[in-house]
Amino acid sequence: MTAHASRGMEDTNVLIIGGLGFLGSNLAHRLVASGARVTIFDACLDPYGWNYANIKEIARDVEVVVADTRDFEAVKAQVADKELIFNFAAQVSHSLSMERPCMDIEINCRGNMNVLEACRRFNDGAMILFAGTRSETGEAHYLPVDERHPDEPSDIYSINKLAAEKYHLMYTRVYGMPTTIIRVGNTYGPRHQMKHGQYGVLNYFVRRAMLDEPILIYGDGEQIRDYCYVDDVCDAFYRAAQTPKSIGEYFVIGSGEPVRFIDMANQVIGAVGKGSLLHTPYPEGREMIDVQQYYVTNDKITGYLGWHPTVSLKGGLEKTVAFYRTQLKEYL
Ligand SMILES: NC(=O)c1ccc[n+]([C@@H]2O[C@H](COP(=O)([O-])OP(=O)(O)OC[C@H]3O[C@@H](n4cnc5c(N)ncnc54)[C@H](O)[C@@H]3O)[C@@H](O)[C@H]2O)c1
Repeated sequence: MTAHASRGMEDTNVLIIGGLGFLGSNLAHRLVASGARVTIFDACLDPYGWNYANIKEIARDVEVVVADTRDFEAVKAQVADKELIFNFAAQVSHSLSMERPCMDIEINCRGNMNVLEACRRFNDGAMILFAGTRSETGEAHYLPVDERHPDEPSDIYSINKLAAEKYHLMYTRVYGMPTTIIRVGNTYGPRHQMKHGQYGVLNYFVRRAMLDEPILIYGDGEQIRDYCYVDDVCDAFYRAAQTPKSIGEYFVIGSGEPVRFIDMANQVIGAVGKGSLLHTPYPEGREMIDVQQYYVTNDKITGYLGWHPTVSLKGGLEKTVAFYRTQLKEYL
């Protein structure tokens, strides 16, 4: 089957780059259950979310290749026979991107260019789905944010992710290669790393509450965020991969519900059943890159793909806490 016809996933050759991490591994579970042949490509870099525990239930059903997107030959070797490629590998820490900007460029620009060039030269029919990030938008000019909102990325990571988005869409425009961008907001749920709070902080707050460690709130906690449960996010990628309607398109997705950061933290405490908050000043350099307000409208993706979020923050937190009640030790 070509990438241009609507597809089921049965026997589809799929590559998930960054597939040992949070989004990639959750999507791998969904794809394996749908009968796809899944290869995971991951460099197992710290301090990111790779974890073999993420795929323990499907370890026999997936192939794992430990390799780095910065290595063109390694990428080339994996893309040739794939029909679908979920391009999720990234340096994902906002603050690390400010400390080590060239490292961020290497992974988030050059690594993604390697994926695109390997496909252009060796498999230009593979459909590539790229995960962008909310912080490419920067501070909102209007709310809810939609696909027409201007981009003023708030930090090096977000600038490089935006560049990578543009690379993908340019490869569709110029070379006719099928790519799709889904720009993801704050996502939470099972299989997120819990070792530190550099990114994916809601998940880290679950750990802090479970271990009776105070949850640190930088500033007043009045920031507005849009928290989306991981199964919903994976479902958006899954649907986008099934139809040519998504090719060359860019979608923002989220819960569509504005939530104050401080309210999210209190809801974490409610879901865990214990925990405390500690207000503290921002660490140096953090406040300037912290977007104050973000939530989206899902109108475009609902219209194109029929996607809409199905899990409330309360329900998603319950599922997340239930997962870590039995699995936490594998994530510490
Ligand atoms: N989780 C979120 O809330 C969120 C929000 C916005 C965007 N995103 C995007 O979604 C994607 C996945 O993020 P995640 O939350 O699963 O992060 P994660 O840290 O859990 O997973 C990222 C994975 O990529 C791997 N990786 C990093 N650099 C690599 C390289 N050069 N070569 C091969 N593998 C490499 C890491 O080892 C890790 O397993 C990223 O592109 C991220 O920018 C995530």
